[in-house]
Amino acid sequence: MPIKSFNASQRMENVQPPIISIVSDLIKKNPGTISLGQGVVYYGPPQRVINEINKLNPSSDYHAYSEVEGIPKLRSIISKKLRHENKINMNEKYDLVVTAGSNMAFMNVLLAIADPSDEIILLRPYYFNHEMAINMVNCKSVIVDTDSDYQPNLEKIINSITPKTKAIVTVSPNNPSGAVYKKKMLEKINALCKEKKIYHISDEAYEYFTFGEINHFSPGSIPDSSDYTISLYSLSKAYGFASWRIGYMVIPKHLSLSVKKAQDTYLICPTRISQEAAIIALEVGSEYTNEFLNRIEYVRNKLYAELKTINNICTTPLTMGAFYFLIKLKTELTSIEIVDKLINKYKIAVIPGETFGMNNGCYLRVGYGSLDKKMSDIGIQRLVKGLKEIIS
Ligand SMILES: Cc1ncc(COP(=O)(O)O)c(C=O)c1O
Repeated sequence: MPIKSFNASQRMENVQPPIISIVSDLIKKNPGTISLGQGVVYYGPPQRVINEINKLNPSSDYHAYSEVEGIPKLRSIISKKLRHENKINMNEKYDLVVTAGSNMAFMNVLLAIADPSDEIILLRPYYFNHEMAINMVNCKSVIVDTDSDYQPNLEKIINSITPKTKAIVTVSPNNPSGAVYKKKMLEKINALCKEKKIYHISDEAYEYFTFGEINHFSPGSIPDSSDYTISLYSLSKAYGFASWRIGYMVIPKHLSLSVKKAQDTYLICPTRISQEAAIIALEVGSEYTNEFLNRIEYVRNKLYAELKTINNICTTPLTMGAFYFLIKLKTELTSIEIVDKLINKYKIAVIPGETFGMNNGCYLRVGYGSLDKKMSDIGIQRLVKGLKEIIS
């Protein structure tokens, strides 16, 4: 009989370690490091949120549990937003659940649609928490490469579908590449899901972060797609809300009970005070985010121009959304080794490409949402100097 011992589950042993906290520890050991690591914006919530939350009556029932799917007033304002902005027709075939962020929404989806050993298709580069979540529920991530501009390849997706496939995940605008998937491609992927009877999970955390003439497109707006399209949203980036933990999911009605079972078990309800804050933020509306977009675009253009000056060692497509570039380096060093040197010697932090499944070659994700104009000069300078000296 095997000897028993105390140890973590095999399931968790198989999950990659959380990179953000590893990089954060390195940053703490190197005070003064500028972080282009975590995917955050440099601004906080609208001032109206702060003012009005401070005025809420503390003796009221904000301390009690509320509805598992979110309070009616918040769900109603989100439904309006979905109709107007995303063109998602919130009819009786769809349900809406407010979550503690869209990572939780993704976990809810997996528990609702997939059994152990089912397959979920992710496009490489993928968002690491999606891959981690899939492992945690004992499902298999099937990783499909995108092209050199990080755009999906339909042929490759079709070839990766098996009888065990439960869903295809698209993240557009994309973390970590910044790619905005073309509307036509998203429509084709959605049609493929309909044909093969699998779900299309569309993560739209960066819906407002597009540049130039590029517009965001929500696959949930495709007519007759409500039976199999799941759309995930977040206030974290748009409203500088990361730690208030509010996101939401649009799901086919037939998944409502399963999603609520999951959410009731590990959340019970989204934090009530955060839901009140979310109502105010959504009343302020997406114009709030738009105010900051010009500045983010300014930093993006500057970063791209500086990266071009070292294109003998570093290349990246000029992607049109989110606030990331996934850069490819001409070096034999691993991305972890480069990250380590960048933090220790040049006090600039980025995320290694392996985290996003980029194992073939050396890639780094550079997140520029956290840089205001003032910090951008020095941050970009450190990155470019560091890469030049480390690689040449
Ligand atoms: C693609 C994507 N989805 C979801 C999330 C998580 O968002 P939330 O804070 O709402 O859980 C992130 C955060 O970086 C993300 O990049």
